[in-house]
Amino acid sequence: MKKNLLKMKNLRPSTQAILDGTNNAQKKDLNVSIYHQMVQKTLDGHGDTNQHSLTISSLIISNKCENIIELGVRFGDSTVPLLFGATVVGGNSRVTSVDIESPEEQAKRIGRPIIEFDDNFNSRWKFVKQDAISFLKEQNSRIDFIFIDDWHGENHVFEELTIIDKLVDNTSLILLHDTMYYGSHPHYNETVMPEGHEFEGKGVYGALTRFVEEYPNYEYCTIPINHGLTILRKVK
Ligand SMILES: C[S@@+](CC[C@H](N)C(=O)[O-])C[C@H]1O[C@@H](n2cnc3c(N)ncnc32)[C@H](O)[C@@H]1O
Repeated sequence: MKKNLLKMKNLRPSTQAILDGTNNAQKKDLNVSIYHQMVQKTLDGHGDTNQHSLTISSLIISNKCENIIELGVRFGDSTVPLLFGATVVGGNSRVTSVDIESPEEQAKRIGRPIIEFDDNFNSRWKFVKQDAISFLKEQNSRIDFIFIDDWHGENHVFEELTIIDKLVDNTSLILLHDTMYYGSHPHYNETVMPEGHEFEGKGVYGALTRFVEEYPNYEYCTIPINHGLTILRKVK
């Protein structure tokens, strides 16, 4: 990922100057400017997860999460609120983002500009190009916050949750995007999709219902907008 912070193409010159700044006052302004972008995205963002921007960052900030994992990055849209949260928490708070294809590769393939992060974000960010399940199998540190938005097949997500179970406790938050995929919100989507489809089986919601049946020590609730964002927590 390119060094140099958040350079969104439509930033006002004054905002870009803030991003290039180094002192604390400027960094505070930077946070304010990104916060304003996230408010706008939460209000009327068109991307898959944009309307969850403030929810994601607020959960990280209020729970003072440090070890933050993102599965499924694409162009980096959901990485922004994760990194914003980590930056506000400060200390050891950091984001590890995992995807089988880098944001640069995906942006180039689609012909979309990538979101670039400056040093303020980059210092808290690590991108790992790897299959999410093989990445999870290598982890042995407790996870504070994990955002699951990679391959949405039922068996794939179910396997992720069973690995994550060993890495979380009752203070960790697991977020699953797309339990109400293709805009079925406020209803869960259990449509059975064929093998090879990204949502194969009953997709993310199918994985979630199977998981809580086998692991009854979990609770969850869902924010019913923007394809559904489920917050899952181990109770004991
Ligand atoms: C829905 S997009 C992620 C969207 C992103 N979270 C956002 O809010 O903009 C799904 C991503 O998962 C990645 N992906 C698909 N299968 C994967 C796997 N097995 N492991 C890791 N990433 C995978 C894809 O390359 C793609 O970038």
